[in-house]
Amino acid sequence: MDISTSYMGIPLENPIIVGSSGLTATVDGVKRLAEAGAGAVVLKSLFQEEITLQTDKAIKEARNSDGSVAWFDYKGRQTPMEFYGYKVKEDNLERYTELITRCRESVSIPVIASINCFYDSLEWIAFAKEIEQVGAQAIELNMFFSPTRFGQPSHEKEALYFKVIDQILKAVTIPVSLKISYYFTDLAPMIQRLSTTGIGGLVLFNRFFSPDFDITKIEVTPSHLFSTPSEMALSLKWIAIMAQKVECELAASTGVHDGEGVIKQILAGAQAVQVVSTLYKNGIKHLPVMIETLKSWMGSKGIKTVADFRGRLAQESTTDPTVYERMQFMKYFTDKKRVKAL
Ligand SMILES: Cc1cc2nc3c(=O)[nH]c(=O)nc-3n(C[C@H](O)[C@H](O)[C@H](O)COP(=O)(O)O)c2cc1C
Repeated sequence: MDISTSYMGIPLENPIIVGSSGLTATVDGVKRLAEAGAGAVVLKSLFQEEITLQTDKAIKEARNSDGSVAWFDYKGRQTPMEFYGYKVKEDNLERYTELITRCRESVSIPVIASINCFYDSLEWIAFAKEIEQVGAQAIELNMFFSPTRFGQPSHEKEALYFKVIDQILKAVTIPVSLKISYYFTDLAPMIQRLSTTGIGGLVLFNRFFSPDFDITKIEVTPSHLFSTPSEMALSLKWIAIMAQKVECELAASTGVHDGEGVIKQILAGAQAVQVVSTLYKNGIKHLPVMIETLKSWMGSKGIKTVADFRGRLAQESTTDPTVYERMQFMKYFTDKKRVKAL
């Protein structure tokens, strides 16, 4: 049986991609993941927000004791803002391109770079070009314009996604994917529109930091860093709904903790499946276990290739497509009715 596949035209030995995280932040980490059998890796993101914060910090530190700012002339950049903005970006990009270069030299699995954009900016075009030049096989754009901001209508926020995608697609020739959240006014049409931009893949969905409360100290605290398997329900449902309605490939992300989860996401229509939390919780040794589960399930069902079962439970391939549109827990719908592949 053959578990190889492809993602955005890049051949993968298996459909399990290790998602962007601390696990993929170093060359050694990436080597270990490759040895354990990862189909590909998405490197830890280069965060625009982090670069902006570092720039602000550097400028504050550069202020003279009297509050004025020293004057610089660094490669023609004549204001402190230009100097520090340039320096911080250059340092970050240099570290990142070095990581890509060394990973490409050390492993044979595909290396996908990740850029996190939190506001619209032309600087991503230069970053994307350099990332392509040093040999990343693809770029994953982790884009999130916060829905908590007031004063800007949703269509304007949505337009930013299309603007950044357009700029990046014009700048590079390697495949570009987009990792998104589910915080859109009208999710299905938005996913569909994004899929027609020329991107190679959509990653459904990113997982975000959420605060929790400590009721003893009456304080806000961080909540769980890692996902739980029950969180997979959201991406499973949306992969199944969208798989036959998009013009790019879909990668599943969030809550996939075992081989069964991988199989389910492919049945829903995912081209590839990203995992992170399960490897933090169970160790990298869990990768070969997941691969083995996939192989033995395919063997038990007499399925020869991943393509042979991909999308068999996608919405329009089932005996009752309406099952994916039920939202409310009405008694009528909780009756045990089997929905099968056509
Ligand atoms: C420690 C940690 C660091 C992460 N860093 C990034 C990152 O830099 N960029 C990104 O797009 N996602 C990042 N993520 C999110 C993961 O890529 C993934 O989308 C999320 O954890 C959900 O997948 P999971 O349920 O398999 O963990 C991070 C997650 C964790 C736990």
